[in-house]
Amino acid sequence: MSGDSKNINIDSVTNSFEKKASEKKVSLKKNDLDNDVTLTINAKTIVAPASLSVIQALWHAGYPRVKGVGCLDGVCGSCSVMVRRADSNELQMELGCQLLIEEGMDVFFSVFETPSQHTYELSEINTSWDVQTEFHRIFPEAEKCRHCNGCNKACPKEIDVELGVDLAVKGRFRESGDLFIECVMCNLCMTGCPEFIDPNHVGLFSRRVTGYFHTRPSNLINRLEAIRTGELDVDIGDDDQVQP
Ligand code: SF4
Ligand code: SF4
Ligand code: FES
Repeated sequence: MSGDSKNINIDSVTNSFEKKASEKKVSLKKNDLDNDVTLTINAKTIVAPASLSVIQALWHAGYPRVKGVGCLDGVCGSCSVMVRRADSNELQMELGCQLLIEEGMDVFFSVFETPSQHTYELSEINTSWDVQTEFHRIFPEAEKCRHCNGCNKACPKEIDVELGVDLAVKGRFRESGDLFIECVMCNLCMTGCPEFIDPNHVGLFSRRVTGYFHTRPSNLINRLEAIRTGELDVDIGDDDQVQP
């Protein structure tokens, strides 16, 4: 299989990855990065330099994986993997393009089918007054959240997913949507949720309704409200002096 990997420019991807790692202040010594490590990826034994990500290590070993590989920059969420490190029995969720390989790692690409059961049309929500009712109709499982922290542990972007769901249940969609701003829709939180809430889709709904119903600037809304309540006294002059 090694012939196919010749078409892939590993160096350019590696350079971009190392730059990103350095920006994130990943503390790895140069010598550590030069050393080869042995790990398994999808049950294949791989030997590759520690400077490579999981996907790069596969390519380096001659496996031209394309399925589950997209942007290579931690943005598209295609490359979710399950990882068990040598010194731990804990299973962790990561993005394969963002994870540096380590000695003794055991990695599996996620193979879960994760279609969302929650479908809706924003245009069918008549006014912002209906959003909360509609949310509970579309996501009836959300209020059954067990607060088990499973989604938080699964999220490779370290989003407080559980809080995001909780805020949406309470109708605080703007705050909920803000929490999900870094979500890459990798679906790992879906696979970890025992109540089938689809937390990432709760986040997407929150962001969509915020954009759809609340596009006016909040400082303008607050200022108009202050004028309406009399808290702010504004002299707008005579009507006949107002220019068209
Ligand atoms: S919130 Fe869910 S879908 Fe979004 S990045 Fe985290 S785990 Fe992935
Ligand atoms: S995994 Fe599901 S049930 Fe558990 S905290 Fe997250 S949203 Fe709630
Ligand atoms: S390939 Fe896009 S997030 Fe990894």
